[in-house]
Amino acid sequence: FMQQTLSIIKPDATQRQLVGEILARLEQNGFRIVAIKMVQLNQEQAEGFYIEHREKPFFARLIEFMCSAPIVVAVLEKQNAVQDYRTLIGATDPKNAAEGTLRKEFAIDGRQNSLHGSDSIENAAREIAYFFADSEIF
Ligand code: CMP
Repeated sequence: FMQQTLSIIKPDATQRQLVGEILARLEQNGFRIVAIKMVQLNQEQAEGFYIEHREKPFFARLIEFMCSAPIVVAVLEKQNAVQDYRTLIGATDPKNAAEGTLRKEFAIDGRQNSLHGSDSIENAAREIAYFFADSEIF
């Protein structure tokens, strides 16, 4: 059934001028872009977004990284979007990502991994609402 998921093109990718190439790959794989914007997060915004990771040892470095440069946030729509997007981007660390996945192709390491994707339907709804008003989603 039709689903929406939140995609983020992370600072490592925006800084290497990979935005257009990544968006093209998403569209070529059947994802419809129904909302999109560029933002630079402040610490409070990044911590709120990643609240579920607040106890993790990598949390502080993750927040610093996510605030280090602008990101591109988008809502993607497709049948089975949440799982299909995660399959397309691949494992968190590009060393573990399958051939043909976007992280395998573009990511630098397990932190600077070019893309974020919602990990569940429930989190997708929360993450979409974190960045977009209903009126901004087409
Ligand atoms: P993502 O899975 O989208 O959301 C959590 C993020 O934390 C992850 O991408 C990475 O950017 C970062 N991350 C995950 N594991 C590590 C790690 N071991 N060290 C540093 N950053 C990490």
